[in-house]
Amino acid sequence: KVKQHDLMIEVHELLRKFYHHLLVNTKEGQEALDYLYSRGFTDDTIDEFQLGYAPNGWDTSLKFLTGRGYEQTLLEQLGLIIRRDNGTYFDRFRERIMFPIHDQKGSTIAFSGRIFKDGEPKYLNSPESVLFQKNKLLYNFHRARPSIRKKQFAVLFEGFADCISAYHAGVTNGVATMGTALTDYHIQLLKRNVERIVLCFDSDEAGKEAVLRAGEMLQRAGLTVEVALVPDGKDPDEYIQKHGSDQFIHEVIEARQTFMAFKMEKFRSGKNLESEGERLSYIEKIITEISQLQSPIEKEIYLRRLADEFSLSLEALKQQERQISYRLK
Ligand code: CTP
Ligand code: MN
Ligand code: MN
Ligand code: MN
Ligand code: MN
Repeated sequence: KVKQHDLMIEVHELLRKFYHHLLVNTKEGQEALDYLYSRGFTDDTIDEFQLGYAPNGWDTSLKFLTGRGYEQTLLEQLGLIIRRDNGTYFDRFRERIMFPIHDQKGSTIAFSGRIFKDGEPKYLNSPESVLFQKNKLLYNFHRARPSIRKKQFAVLFEGFADCISAYHAGVTNGVATMGTALTDYHIQLLKRNVERIVLCFDSDEAGKEAVLRAGEMLQRAGLTVEVALVPDGKDPDEYIQKHGSDQFIHEVIEARQTFMAFKMEKFRSGKNLESEGERLSYIEKIITEISQLQSPIEKEIYLRRLADEFSLSLEALKQQERQISYRLK
């Protein structure tokens, strides 16, 4: 059983090296390499993240791995090859840029392949296996862990490209979910290493909604949540390509706001606060949020902000907050 596990990792490690070789050293890989260069990936980044190229043929990995003596049934279990009705096999990953996925120890346990021409889906992942469960995986965790501990916060991204670009920009404490929602497993994994999480998702509507959901979960788990959104509706990778690393660090990562400040802004958008009714319901909603904060100091800070903003007395807001807290207990 243990031996089988080691064998499965061995297969992934071997294939990772093979794909990387095809990308950086062969003519076949040139177009994929040029695509990465055109997106601002450097040789260093490609090397560090061991990016690779799966060629266009139907049996590149099949031939390579069976040639090294691995059984087809093992490769099928791992989802690297797929069985046809007639009993023959073909490669899952064809004509894609390959992102190796590592477990917490740094062993390669799966792949995600990005299309770089026309077609769907944009990213094709290894299927779930004994080695790989998407809802347990944080991309880049093994590489980021020392930096997360040192900097005492982790940055959570939505995508690989964001995580990789940010790493190159100096944000070495970043991790990403693999296109799934944040799970309790992810949260516990983070919580064992750090107390503060900075959410750096895409700044479109979907990204902002995801910040709300992830933020609530993290906060409920007792973690401190901050939000660093790029300003122009883009994703962090696009922002870095456009504005450069320094500006990303200063204007996005260092300019992050608290989760509460993010919510105050978010709930206010689209509201007409000139209308008394909308103003009251906004104030009530924010006080409800404030009442869920743990720290009395934080509560006071946001109540004060609300008082200033709407020319209300701090006393009245505090009283309202106590009432709401009492009701929610
Ligand atoms: N994703 C996926 N399958 C897709 C699309 C997305 O698994 N068809 C996951 C990937 O993990 C991806 C993340 O969701 O990194 C975020 O998706 P998206 O924002 O669309 O991709 P980007 O990370 O921005 O990728 P790129 O910049 O290469 O377009
Ligand atoms: Mn290399
Ligand atoms: Mn998105
Ligand atoms: Mn994106
Ligand atoms: Mn992107």
